Amino acid sequence: MKHSAPEGLPPYFNIDPDQALSALGEPTTTEGFGTIARACEAGRSDLTSRGLEESGQRRLRLFSTWEITRYLIPVATGHFRRVLKANPTLPQGRSETKSGAKWFTLDEVLRLRAHFGAEGSKAKEYLPYRPSNLPAKLVAVANFKGGVGKTSTAAHLAMSAALDGYKVLVVDLDSQGSMTSIFGGKVADEWQTVFPLLARHYASYQRSENQRRQDRGEAPQPLDDTLATALEMRTQDLIQSTHWPNIDLIGAQLNLYWAEFQIPVWRMQGRGWKLWDALTDIFTADGVLDEYDVIFLDTPPALGYLTINGLAAADILLVPVGASFLEFDSTGRFFDMLHSTFGSIEEAENMAARALGRDGLAFQWDAVRAVITRYDGTQQAELAALMQTYLGGTLSPHRQDFTALIGQAGEQVQGIYEADYRDFNRETYVRGRETFDATYAAFKTLLLGSWRRDELAAEQVAAE
Ligand SMILES: Nc1ncnc2c1ncn2[C@@H]1O[C@H](COP(=O)(O)OP(=O)(O)O)[C@@H](O)[C@H]1O
Ligand SMILES: [Mg+2]
Repeated sequence: MKHSAPEGLPPYFNIDPDQALSALGEPTTTEGFGTIARACEAGRSDLTSRGLEESGQRRLRLFSTWEITRYLIPVATGHFRRVLKANPTLPQGRSETKSGAKWFTLDEVLRLRAHFGAEGSKAKEYLPYRPSNLPAKLVAVANFKGGVGKTSTAAHLAMSAALDGYKVLVVDLDSQGSMTSIFGGKVADEWQTVFPLLARHYASYQRSENQRRQDRGEAPQPLDDTLATALEMRTQDLIQSTHWPNIDLIGAQLNLYWAEFQIPVWRMQGRGWKLWDALTDIFTADGVLDEYDVIFLDTPPALGYLTINGLAAADILLVPVGASFLEFDSTGRFFDMLHSTFGSIEEAENMAARALGRDGLAFQWDAVRAVITRYDGTQQAELAALMQTYLGGTLSPHRQDFTALIGQAGEQVQGIYEADYRDFNRETYVRGRETFDATYAAFKTLLLGSWRRDELAAEQVAAE
């Protein structure tokens, strides 16, 4: 017996159960998940290999004179050419045809910028502001909702900061590893993620506790293999370089999720362990904050221990949110959870601190901003204006437009800054890039403002 839906009827009427059964296939077992996972893995390697050099390394595209003088080194094209000609030791670029446009690697662009910074007009900004005696700023991008643009925003900001001349470290705290894929990271297991740094922080705490136990004549608690191994590791062991000359990466992969189970166990064993200080303490101890200018932390869509760690380490917190009711609503609850989570950590700490007559704990961020992402002005203007009314200064003034360039860029390139503008209509490219440049400008304003505040505070202290 075979039914077929009469003309014009919606497709969910008259589905034949026997046909449905024959289309169903066998039930899936646990083994089935393994088969699916292997198929995905094979497809993934195929896809990634398409954007790679033969050596298996990802390669960043070249930059043309047009792009350099328009976006990166703000001088007239004619002047740029004259300076290159007058300085034959500077990178001269390469062209595909004899009289064609000259193209440069980002490394070469950075060298050219350093030259213009040293020799060029002092009235122009060739090198971005960075107080030399102050540590790098840590920036966390977080929201417990997935798909709001955390990773895209963090990746684009990292790339624009790198193009702007900053030295950037990207830390992937999401075990899904999207950020790691974007930067072509290779991560075998949790020992190549931040996991050993958290373990080392706990191990150092345990070790100092053991000292105290011994002083009291008590038996020390032995450190297990994981902790003993972690004590030997430094942040620099985990940092990998990427196809961007001035972006480095600490990657993530699925096993990092293990940290969400391990951290609470450590907290149970060591009640006094200040897990929220882990990343800051370790980065400071290893000199990471002096080696970089800006450190971006991409977080998982959950308020777990890894996110709390990232948020506590951050100087600047960006919360991407779409201009839709559901995302606005869920972002409100995210801030509510931040309030209660950090509030309860402070409360517990301050009770202990008061008992010991020590200073209490008060978390503080240089700046916290919600950032509208994937904005569609034709549909979302009203909601965005309402969000602006309620959030006021907490909402970043710039709305990051939805741009098809992100999806179109293809599998070799990740986002607008890696795309070759010749693949697009020039107008489309300029508009798509404009919205991410403006996202970066809004962020850079926060970055410079908070560095400047620290700089003035340091001068104040020095004057006293
Ligand atoms: N400005 C944008 N325009 C168009 N698509 C975007 C934009 N920002 C993000 N996306 C897309 O939205 C999806 C979710 O973004 P992602 O950054 O992975 O979110 P999250 O990290 O919060 O889960 C991705 O497919 C990404 O390509
Ligand atoms: Mg993400």
